[in-house]
Amino acid sequence: MLKLKQFVLLAVSSVTHYTPRLFSFKTSRPKAFKFRSGEFVMLGLIIKCKLVLRAYSVCSATWASDLEFYSIKASNGPFTSYLQKITTDSLVLMRTKPTGTLVLEGLRSGDRLFLFCTGTGVAPFLSIISDPRTYVQFKEVIVVLTCRERAELKFLFIRYAELLKEAEFVRFTDGKLRFYTSVTRQSYPFVGRVTHIIKSGVLLYNLNLSCFDIRSRFMICGSQAMISDTIQVLSYLGFKEGSLNNPQDFVYEKAFTN
Ligand code: A2P
Repeated sequence: MLKLKQFVLLAVSSVTHYTPRLFSFKTSRPKAFKFRSGEFVMLGLIIKCKLVLRAYSVCSATWASDLEFYSIKASNGPFTSYLQKITTDSLVLMRTKPTGTLVLEGLRSGDRLFLFCTGTGVAPFLSIISDPRTYVQFKEVIVVLTCRERAELKFLFIRYAELLKEAEFVRFTDGKLRFYTSVTRQSYPFVGRVTHIIKSGVLLYNLNLSCFDIRSRFMICGSQAMISDTIQVLSYLGFKEGSLNNPQDFVYEKAFTN
């Protein structure tokens, strides 16, 4: 049974459309709402008299005063065909319990953290890169984002430019954060699926690294197929899946794989 006290109403404060397939929106943040960077929440809309819920990673920093979400616009999608029409007059329901497996606590200590993502899978990593704890745990953090087209990389660049305006962010990242972006369906300086650029050595070459050394750690977020293919590559390289109970080398978001 639906317990309404588990939900809060979020007021939408801005909506930005990047491409015909992608948009983001910001909302108010309830004072009592706390989350770990990388976690997701269930967002809901009442559609045709029924509550429809979907999992959305929180893009915002844990220290931010508002919340931000990044979404696909699926034509005829039962949820996003409505969500994409929200405006600053809209309200969205949120279940107040954040959860997820894509958290720093699932990784044992290491030197270099790779954040492998495709499409809207970049969302949780915007939160991870704005968390000071990430840079306490790792000496270097590399976001590896692959999208179909150049315009789909825009959200990452815009959010990063916004973060750079925060003096604290510049101080705690302290030159430890790098980006590698590639596309698969247009020309761009770097092309190729994440799995391909790992296997071919192109990623390491372009990052000027000699190998994924044993103190490398990984987080993965993307489509179900991308996640399982990337896990296969990392497992082949000898890395092990971690969890809150047993921190290891890589974690991925299980909610998006079923
Ligand atoms: P491609 O253009 O070759 O399909 P989407 O928007 O469909 O989620 O795709 C985002 C990116 O993820 C695209 O660049 C797409 O490449 C890539 N991708 C899709 N499937 C996989 C997979 N199994 N492994 C790695 N990358 C993938």
